[in-house]
Amino acid sequence: PTVRIGGDVAERFEKVPHPAPMLSLANAFDEDDLRAWRERIKRLLSDDEIAELAYVVEPKFDGLTVVLHYDEQGRFVLGATRGDGDVGENITANLRTVAQVPLQIPVPTNSGLMPPARLVVRGEAYVEKAAFDAFNRERAQADERTYANPRNFAAGSLRQLDSGVTAQRPLKIWAYQILLLAGEPAPPGTHSASLDYLRDFGFPVSALTERFSDDAFEDLVEYVGQFGAARHDLPFEVDGIVIKVDSLAQQAKLGFTGKDPRWALAYKFPGEEAVTDLLDIVINVGRTGAVTPNAVLAPVQIGGVTVRSATLHNEDSVSYTHLRAHETS
Ligand code: IVH
Repeated sequence: PTVRIGGDVAERFEKVPHPAPMLSLANAFDEDDLRAWRERIKRLLSDDEIAELAYVVEPKFDGLTVVLHYDEQGRFVLGATRGDGDVGENITANLRTVAQVPLQIPVPTNSGLMPPARLVVRGEAYVEKAAFDAFNRERAQADERTYANPRNFAAGSLRQLDSGVTAQRPLKIWAYQILLLAGEPAPPGTHSASLDYLRDFGFPVSALTERFSDDAFEDLVEYVGQFGAARHDLPFEVDGIVIKVDSLAQQAKLGFTGKDPRWALAYKFPGEEAVTDLLDIVINVGRTGAVTPNAVLAPVQIGGVTVRSATLHNEDSVSYTHLRAHETS
């Protein structure tokens, strides 16, 4: 713990330029969007390239994007937020407190590997659903502000000026992209090999990735549907699935339009809504006298959980005709 936590409380976060633009992703909302994307890509590739064309499908993690920099000795030297895509904020002290962020690569148990001259990794900081619910329950009992969703929790926890506060938060990370790699070993040629590379160096990489050749595109479409149906069983939130062209040379050839790479696509799962009866409104008076109204609902299944209550203190999300359940019990 003394290696991870320490230093002064920051007054504000310094700005840090990213070594490469932190691109975002174009969205697809149905199967036809996926097929149209495939056709667009194939029009830009040669027959030889199409013969080799393959895709990697992975979860779209719902958290806060982080950028992790390592020096020639494999030390974690800088961690940043995405910011506007070109310049982020320096949150190194906070990221050091996240146990899954390797402070030294390769991790000491992976002997034989040497650190590259420079490595910059992109990933997502997140919180598991169970840890998030437990955290919010404790906060509610102590009459403290709760977070609306795991994404806000991750962002709020990593933008603390006192890293001692971040250290108390159950944050985790997934690494999913090499932004920059210099020196030996040679950079991998495919996205799937990049994920293996990151895993070997000690980064947490999701095992929920699947590779499909272009010939098997309809299997990919089916997989996306199955993944969506089963996503509520995962211990963390995903708001979609990302499909990427596997070959990095093909990615470079496809390039990007504006801020979105042509070689990747985010398939967004539709938000879920349900209709139920409002049975009662219960007013809780906290220790400090804070009053919070709660809706008692006829139990309704949504997103894989049974919702029986909803907070009503946020007027923006409550209206006579449309009540959304944010919290579950
Ligand atoms: S790839 C150039 N892969 O989703 C491609 N992004 O709308 C860069 N995200 O904030 C992104 N999971 O940080 C990629 N498996 C994943 C992801 C992922 C979550 C985030 C990303 C960005 C947003 C894009």
